[in-house]
Amino acid sequence: MSQASTARSLTRFLIEEKREGRINPDLRLLIEVVARACKTIAVAVGKGALGGVLGDAGTGNGASINVQGEAQKKLDVIANDVLLEANAWGGHLAACASEEMDEPFLIPDAYPRGNYLLLFDPLDGSSNIDVNVSVGTIFSVLVCPGDAQDVDTQSFLQPGTAQVAAGYCIYGPSTMLVLTIGHGTHAFTLDREQGSFVLTQRDMRVPDETREFAVNMSNQRHWEAPMQAYVGDLLAGSEGVRGNDFNTRWIASMVADVHRILTRGGIFIYPWDSRLGTGTDPCKAGKLRLMYEANPMSLLIEQAGGASTNGRERIMDITPTHLHQRVPVFLGSRAEVAMASRYHHEHDMARASRFNDA
Ligand code: AHG
Ligand code: MN
Ligand code: MN
Repeated sequence: MSQASTARSLTRFLIEEKREGRINPDLRLLIEVVARACKTIAVAVGKGALGGVLGDAGTGNGASINVQGEAQKKLDVIANDVLLEANAWGGHLAACASEEMDEPFLIPDAYPRGNYLLLFDPLDGSSNIDVNVSVGTIFSVLVCPGDAQDVDTQSFLQPGTAQVAAGYCIYGPSTMLVLTIGHGTHAFTLDREQGSFVLTQRDMRVPDETREFAVNMSNQRHWEAPMQAYVGDLLAGSEGVRGNDFNTRWIASMVADVHRILTRGGIFIYPWDSRLGTGTDPCKAGKLRLMYEANPMSLLIEQAGGASTNGRERIMDITPTHLHQRVPVFLGSRAEVAMASRYHHEHDMARASRFNDA
């Protein structure tokens, strides 16, 4: 048979997962709708300067600032609108929550509501748009805990372990959708001629060990002691306690850094730092957002055999208190995440024993 006839489209993959009882029709529809919206976003991103979509959003009197306190890019707003419009009328969702919206978008009364909650970062890595570096869309799916007619912000505040699906679309040299419905992490590449996502890697696996770390080193002076010690030992390389040299990569698009780690291993770190507040304030505990960046990426990584912590506990075990709360992130190759977490654990134990001895 020709390549085309054996190639599995996303649609065929989802139908087969449904046949295996791993997905129901509404969740299948949800994923197909999100994938279609990502194709629309990919077209807008791909136009670049020709599409008038670069630069900051907002009117002449300055950029528009989102709930994160960050200047919105035009494509942040475009991607957000595409996802809201695509998901409003299908009857599969009760509500959506977005990095770009203070409050959740409740499916309007004009349309039926379903039992799913969709959370997304409509465009991740926005700072890279104007310099033509890969960006992406991250999404997470929860089940509405109560009656869909009563959905509110509280309905979203569920731990990452409650996710029923998660994924991202990376708009890079190729456009790829990476997806989990709780049975492995799988990659689909957009066939631009056919206009469909084609399964190109089933069951991605993150190597347990790595010699590559991803962190924004310019923040080093703001890190807490165990993070300083951990990265210091990585930088000491084969002359230090780790006994190996390490390489570093930092794209500043979480989607691109995580995709590299899913593909060849590594550890991605965005730690707490003193600029971000006390560290005890859940809305200031890091830069990355728990609900629509850390949790979906953690599920994808764990389903591929990797690990994801905040330096001290599994990210997906954290019970959220705020929709836009932030969290320190250490994710990727299991052995390296365990090593980084050990530095934090040993630091905390030493501090506790000093406190007890005082
Ligand atoms: P977003 O564009 O959705 O705000 O996310 C950007 C995030 C994440 O993608 C990336 O890993 C991180 O910000 C980069 O932060 P720095 O620019 O501080 O390195
Ligand atoms: Mn982001
Ligand atoms: Mn974003």
